[in-house]
Amino acid sequence: MKAPVVVINFKAYQEAEGDRAFRLAKACQKVSSESGVPMAVCPPHLWLGAIARILEMPVYAQSVDPLPPGPGTGFVTPSMLHSTDVAGTLVNHSEHRIPKDDIGKIVEMCSALKLHTCICAETAEEASDLAGFHPNAVAVEPPALIGGNVSVTSADPGIVSGTVDAVKAVDPKVLVYCGAGVKTGDDVKASMDLGANGVLLASGVVKAKDPEQVLRDLISKI
Ligand code: G3P
Repeated sequence: MKAPVVVINFKAYQEAEGDRAFRLAKACQKVSSESGVPMAVCPPHLWLGAIARILEMPVYAQSVDPLPPGPGTGFVTPSMLHSTDVAGTLVNHSEHRIPKDDIGKIVEMCSALKLHTCICAETAEEASDLAGFHPNAVAVEPPALIGGNVSVTSADPGIVSGTVDAVKAVDPKVLVYCGAGVKTGDDVKASMDLGANGVLLASGVVKAKDPEQVLRDLISKI
């Protein structure tokens, strides 16, 4: 599986509930397959497995719990993700922060099942620290910019380049994504120019009137 360049996090937006989650996922797949730009989608847990079963592109969970199969109630485990063709998971998103020990356990459990992990961090320092768990990727997202219209690449380009340098110094194999306010093709190009391997985004696509059109613009300068 080629590493995604654009990861679309559906979050808990109403635009990604029920059938709309399937329509949105199929629109993302259409743009990815027509353009050849690798992407991944992160639907809500409720429709995650069903969407992973019908899509060709990688489907990631928005979070996962560090539990083995067994007596646990109300959790989503790495084993469950593995059983439903899910390709990977976000970990420690700023809207779903977890203790550092759990992050390490999740990366260990997921890599044993060949599930990709993308750990989220709020600063370059945190990204560098968490890269020590050797996930597949680290995504840096300053919380204050999430959901806004100013891209992290213009508001704080230093956090992107700083995170790239810091993470690659820990493990050159770890991919680096940036996110928060990424809305246009210029924002995506800027992230790549700053050394990132791709972007993690949500509202610009999920809340768009025409998600397909927005996605085409986002990758138009790659
Ligand atoms: O997971 C990506 C997300 O936190 C970024 O949100 O709406 O600024 O693209 P948004």
